[in-house]
Amino acid sequence: MGPEKIVNVLQGKKIILGVCGGIAAYKAADLCRLLVKEGARVHVIMTRSGREFITPLTLSTLSGNPVLTDTFDSEDRNPLVHIEVAEGADLLLIAPATANIIGKLAAGIADDLLTTTALAVTCPALVAPAMNVNMYAKAVVQENLALLQKRGWGIIEPEEGILACGAEGKGRLASLSAIMASVRRTLSVQDFAGRRILVTAGGTREPLDPVRFLSNRSSGKMGYALARAAWERGARVILVSAAPGLEPPWGVEIYQVETAAEMAERVLELFPYVDVVIKAAAVADFRPAQPVPEKIKKGGREFLTVTLEPTVDILAELGKRKEKQILVGFAAETDRALEHGAQKMKAKNVDLMVVNDVTREGAGFGTDTNQVTLLYPDGRREELPLLPKLEVAHQILDAIKALPALAE
Ligand code: CTP
Repeated sequence: MGPEKIVNVLQGKKIILGVCGGIAAYKAADLCRLLVKEGARVHVIMTRSGREFITPLTLSTLSGNPVLTDTFDSEDRNPLVHIEVAEGADLLLIAPATANIIGKLAAGIADDLLTTTALAVTCPALVAPAMNVNMYAKAVVQENLALLQKRGWGIIEPEEGILACGAEGKGRLASLSAIMASVRRTLSVQDFAGRRILVTAGGTREPLDPVRFLSNRSSGKMGYALARAAWERGARVILVSAAPGLEPPWGVEIYQVETAAEMAERVLELFPYVDVVIKAAAVADFRPAQPVPEKIKKGGREFLTVTLEPTVDILAELGKRKEKQILVGFAAETDRALEHGAQKMKAKNVDLMVVNDVTREGAGFGTDTNQVTLLYPDGRREELPLLPKLEVAHQILDAIKALPALAE
């Protein structure tokens, strides 16, 4: 296993992508490309009106498979095509879905290839509506969607914004990242369903004056990968982030903080309501004791002395307060990593310690890979190879799942 291995639940999966008529149909091209990029085998079915908005040639080129249209429109007039395409499908995704298709699906009408296929599949199904704001708000559309949801369909809600028709409101096709995240979650094993996981990420910033701060090299990528992986595996995820500028994974509840004190306040407040805390953040141990209200001037001085005072050790505090929560700590070290990691695990009363030597190539700050060793309170240790951070995140979640406290 090398760093090139990417965790991919879509790899090899057969996805039927239904494309209906609407301005958002052009976005199906990008969606198709992203699904293929993550390894899915995509079979596109277009409705007749869908073909008015985007050509089958675009989607057959991007998917690498012929685009299927209405049963009797195609040259071979194969009456069993809906059964054949449904065979072995892992997911049916209809994006964009019009009010018309939603109505037909809810009523069980099967009068074209997409609707007959929708009845023939046995796999999970997702629908991503896109339409005018007033159409989307109509009681009949909402009731149809509620009916589909009740029958097990996943609904990827549209976004609010300016719509193609110029109106403003809810009705714009969900973002591609939202659709992709929902697809991954639908295809992932939901082994964290019902669990509430709090993840902290990034390096805190401690102000020195209004324009300067003390911080560290943490990028937040490891914490974000953990939040994404946990959400895709069914958890309810809260991300307390001190990393500015990273796009939060879709589906997670995010709280942006800056200082160790702000992070401490938020994490301690949420602690009673979660099952697991993963402290991937690099929290400042010290902060300027007296931040200066105005910008510090050079003023011809030879030295500038700043007095630092300790911050709250959040993880240690959680270790004292914990009841049945699982605590996962991180230790980024530059020397005697395992020894230091083991000491911290004991001192902070954590259930799993993720140790990395940041001087190793590919395991430092800001990289997309990491090489960690997992330490357990009973002395067991598990050294993982150099892996993409998303893969490391999944392995950490596997380890958490196997902890006796969570297995109960
Ligand atoms: N941590 C924390 N609050 C702090 C400092 C650290 O919650 N004020 C957490 C980190 O999020 C991490 C773990 O404690 O999960 C270990 O952090 P690290 O900085 O490696 O250890 P320290 O205890 O600060 O020890 P040192 O800096 O001396 O290595």
